[in-house]
Formats: sequence, structure tokens, C-alpha cells
Amino acid sequence: MPENVYVADIAAHEGKEVTLRGWLHNRRSSGKLHFLQVRDGTGTIQCVVFKGNVTPEVFSEADHLPQETSVAVTGLVKKEPRSPIGFEIDVRALAVHARPTQEFPIGHKEHGVAFLMEQRHLWLRSPRQNVILRVRHTVEKAIRDFFDQRGFTLVDGPIFTPSACEGTSNLFEVPYFDLGKAYLTQSGQLYMEAAAMALGKVYCFGPTFRAEKSKTRRHLTEFWMVEPEVAWLDLDGDMVLMEEFVSFVVQAALAKHRDELARVLERDVSKLESVTPPFPRITYTEAVEVIRKEQEAQRAALPPEEAAKLPPMMVWGDDIGGDEETLVARSYDRPVMVHRYPTLMKAFYFKKDPQDPKVALGCDVLAPEGYGEIIGGGQREDDLETLEKAIAHHELPREAFEWYLDLRRYGTVPHAGFGMGVERCVAWICGLHHVRETIPFARMTERITP
Ligand code: 4AD
Ligand code: MG
Repeated sequence: MPENVYVADIAAHEGKEVTLRGWLHNRRSSGKLHFLQVRDGTGTIQCVVFKGNVTPEVFSEADHLPQETSVAVTGLVKKEPRSPIGFEIDVRALAVHARPTQEFPIGHKEHGVAFLMEQRHLWLRSPRQNVILRVRHTVEKAIRDFFDQRGFTLVDGPIFTPSACEGTSNLFEVPYFDLGKAYLTQSGQLYMEAAAMALGKVYCFGPTFRAEKSKTRRHLTEFWMVEPEVAWLDLDGDMVLMEEFVSFVVQAALAKHRDELARVLERDVSKLESVTPPFPRITYTEAVEVIRKEQEAQRAALPPEEAAKLPPMMVWGDDIGGDEETLVARSYDRPVMVHRYPTLMKAFYFKKDPQDPKVALGCDVLAPEGYGEIIGGGQREDDLETLEKAIAHHELPREAFEWYLDLRRYGTVPHAGFGMGVERCVAWICGLHHVRETIPFARMTERITP
């Protein structure tokens, strides 16, 4: 095959004749001219077929090709100021590689999301989904660049695990030979703690599984999480790492995709420009005050009989759910860091605040514009006896954690880390309502195909 020229590189070929290979996305006609929108995965370009420039057979065929016909278009690359990419092709020859055997199910009219998710393998071809997947790629690369530039070592954690990290209520169980059962990993954190004691600064980045019963726009059963872990780091240092990391990733996506985000996804990119350190910090206790004030205001605005129907007001010790996160985040133009949650709410491994053991040295980063928690993390319990008590208190099987306790037996040090879900981060950057569009093939309670 002759060398491929790609739409993304078309400017380098101005004035020359090239052959582009791709798929027919759309077409229209005005008698002597046919306009073919051809996409090749790197972009879409308008190819103009003028009656006088091609054979009569090609001219008549060009007006009848169905959507998603695979084609090779040969023509001159011309500047076109009205095109979003600045160029179009003046067609000299058109070769049809394969006509679809039936009508493409995703036409140019509106389709419901349930239908589109069923057709996900084909939906990926749409300009919107193309942009989202490219942003995801940039986010994943920026994640690696950030940690690699700072001397972190990438350590791959296991996917089959013998025990829970984030509570036992959402574990996926798999039969595991004579050893009984294993669980799909909920988090690589415990393994990263071991690796941090060996390598100092580490991170893992891979798929994570939660048998989430909650069907929300923020939950998947399989998602990708990046988890750094650092020896000799406390909560304050961890929070600095979080804000620098999130800012780096958002600015990398903005630098590379500003135009597509605004033009194709209609994202208000000015909202992302302010995502730079420092992020505001508030304690959980302060967040509860903010939420209660908002809830009081909501009640005051309603007739008493309506107000009585609202769910009870939040009290100290309750979890901050999605709606409450939005209330906390909406007064800031960048993510807010909520730290020191009630110890009772948090996983067994959190270190208690020595100043106030009712709260744990943990921090969640809440994205603005209603996107909610994108990061959870904090300082780990590094004292052997306290950790043993926490494992007993959470009724976790002690044998499964003996290796983890070893990390406190052999030269224990303060350490901290966090986890960021890639899909929540991409949904926020792209301004998407639901995380299902941020991953190529979403896995949710009610979906495992295609
Ligand atoms: O807050 P989580 O549960 O924290 C942990 O797993 C820690 N062990 C991480 C660590 O400290 N190393 O999850 C971390 C992040 C959340 O903030 C969210 O972005 C994402 O993972 N996440 C999900 N994303 C999509 N679907 C789900 N079901 C998710 N559950 C968590
Ligand atoms: Mg969390």
C-alpha cells in the first residue's frame, strides 16, 4: 500500500496531491459538487468532488455512498478558511474499499444513550467519542509524566487479591483453585505501601473493581485508578502532591485539547484554566457546617409542609454524599480538599489525628461544577499495635493482613498516598454528565456488553 497521509498532518501537504484512507462520515450535494466528510481516526476533512475533475462513474458513485463506506480519496490539499481544520481536499480519484452490507445503525439524528451504549463498538466512531478517548489518552500520559518526572517508580499491583482494602461490601469474588476464593482488587494501595518501603516513591496504575450496588453517574464496576504512595510523607505533604498532580493533569489536557473540548464537546474551558495550586482546604467538620447552612436555606425557601418532606439534615458523622459534595464545592473555582473525616467512617488503614483521634488523617479532593470526589487518600497508620486493633475493630481476617503488619514490624515510617479515578477526572475535564462515556467499554451493574 502507498504511504498513508493522515488528516492530523494535512497542513504539511498543502498544495500537494495525497491519498487519504478512512470512512465516509457524512455527505451532501449541490448538483455539480459533492461534499464528502471523510474521517480517518485522526480527524475529519471535507473532500470536494467537482464534476469536471473526476470520471462520470466516480462522480455518480460519490453521491450514493452510504455512511461508513471505507474509501481511499486522492486529491489536492487546499487551504480553506471556513473549515475547522483549515484545509479541504479537491478530489481527483475515489476508490471504494468496502460498502457497508447494511445501514449504519447510528445515523445523524439524535439517539438515546441506552441504544448508543448497546452500539458502543460503533459509537466510538463518532466525533464526540473520538475526542473523549483522545482526552483520556492525554490524561493517562500526563499521569505517568507527572510521577516519572518526580522520580517515582511504577510498580504493578496484583489483580487477584486475598483480602479487602476498601471494605467488604463491594468485593468481586472469583473461585481460586484449591485456595478457595480470591477477590478482584479494589485498590493497589496495600501493595504500594510495601513497595514504598522498598523504593521510596512509587505508583501503580491499572484497572480496579468494585461490585457497586449504587447506580450513579459516578460509579463503574471496573475503573482505572492511579495510586501513588510515598515513604516519609505526612498528610500535609500528601495534599500538596494531590493539588500539584491534579493541576498538572488538567493543564496538560487543556494545552493539547483546548480547541476540541470547546468546539466538539462544548466545554467551557475557562472553568479549567483556574485549576492551579493552591487548592482551598477545609476540614470535614467545616464542610458539615457549610452543608447544614445550605440545607437550612433550602428549608427556609420552602413552605413548611414541603420542607418537612426533605431528608433529615446532615449531622457530624454522616458521609458526604454526591449532593452534599456539590454544595461544598460550588463556592470554589477549583477543586477543594476536604480533610480529617470521622475515623469511624474511614477504612482501617487511616492514621488517626494525634490531636483529635475522632478524626482520621485522610483527604478527599472534590472537583468543582458538581463532579464530586475525584481523589481519596491520606496518611497511613504506621504503628503496629494501633493497626492490629483497627484490623480487629473492622472484623477483618487477621491472617490475610500479616504481611501488611510486617511493614510496621521492620522499620516503620510515616507514609501517605492517594488514589485518583481516571474516569471521574476525564468526565470533569470533558464536562460529561456520566462516567460511562469516558471509558471505551463501560462495565456497570446492568452492562457487560459489548
Ligand atoms: O476513595 P477510594 O475508595 O480510595 C481508595 O481506594 C484508596 N485505597 C486509594 C489510595 O489511597 N491509594 O477511591 C479512590 C478514587 C475515588 O476518589 C474515585 O475517583 C475513584 O477512585 N473511584 C471510582 N471511580 C469510578 N467508579 C467507582 N465505582 C469508583 N470508586 C472509586
Ligand atoms: Mg473515597
